Amino acid sequence: MLRCDTWMLFCLMISGTIHLNCTCSEHALHQALFKDYNKLLRPVKNQSTTTFLKSNTDVYSIVSVNEQEESIDLVLWDVHTWQDEFLQWNPNDFDNCTSLFVPASEIWQPDYVVLNLLNREPIISDNVLYVRIDSNGLVSTGDTYYATLRCDMDITAFPFDTQTCSIVGMLWLYDRFRRIQKSII
Ligand SMILES: *[C@@H]1O[C@H](CO)[C@@H](O)[C@H](O)[C@H]1NC(C)=O
Ligand SMILES: *[C@@H]1O[C@H](CO)[C@@H](O)[C@H](O)[C@H]1NC(C)=O
Ligand SMILES: *[C@@H]1O[C@H](CO)[C@@H](O)[C@H](O)[C@H]1NC(C)=O
Repeated sequence: MLRCDTWMLFCLMISGTIHLNCTCSEHALHQALFKDYNKLLRPVKNQSTTTFLKSNTDVYSIVSVNEQEESIDLVLWDVHTWQDEFLQWNPNDFDNCTSLFVPASEIWQPDYVVLNLLNREPIISDNVLYVRIDSNGLVSTGDTYYATLRCDMDITAFPFDTQTCSIVGMLWLYDRFRRIQKSII
C-alpha cells in the first residue's frame, strides 16, 4: 500500500500498478481549498509579502552536443517550490490529510522561463502534470522535458575540449517588480 502523501511520480517509477489508498477526505479538502481560489493572482494575503521561489534543475541525460550550432540537447528535470497562502489547512479538519495532488493548471504558478532555451518538448503532457500541496501551503512542482539549450562553445581544443553550459532561468515579469525572490536549492 502506498500512502497518499508519497510523490506520485515516485510511485510510478517503483511500481507498475498503483493503489493510492487515501484515507483522508480529499474531496472535502479540495472543495474547501478551491471554492474561492483565484489562480490569476500571486497567492499572498498582503501584497507586500515576497514569494520565495526555490528552483532546482537536474540534467537527466545529455542527448547530443552540437558544436557547430553551439547548442546542446538534454533531458531536464525541474523542481520548483513556493508558498501559497491560500492553500493551507489544518490536517485535523480533514481526516489527517497532510498533502493533496492537483493538476498544475488549477493553481497559481510563477512565470519561470529559461532564457537560453531554444526548444522545449514536454515529456509529461500538460493535462497530467500534477503539483503536490502540503497542508502548510508549500507547493512543489516537478516537470521533465527535452530541452535544446544555447551555449557558447570554444572548439579550438577539439576533440579535447571542455564546454561549460549554463541554464539561465528567470521570472519573466515578476522579476521586474521584485515581488518574488528565487534561489537555487
Ligand atoms: C485502505 O486503508 C484502510 C485503512 O488503512 C484499509 O482498511 C483498507 O482496506 C485499504 N483499502 C485498500 C483498497 O487497500
Ligand atoms: C502589509 O504588510 C506591510 C509590511 O509588513 C504592513 O506595513 C501593512 O500594514 C500590511 N497590510 C495589511 C493590510 O495587513
Ligand atoms: C488523526 O490523527 C490523530 C493523532 O495522531 C488521531 O488521534 C486521529 O484518530 C486521526 N484521525 C483519523 C480520522 O485518522
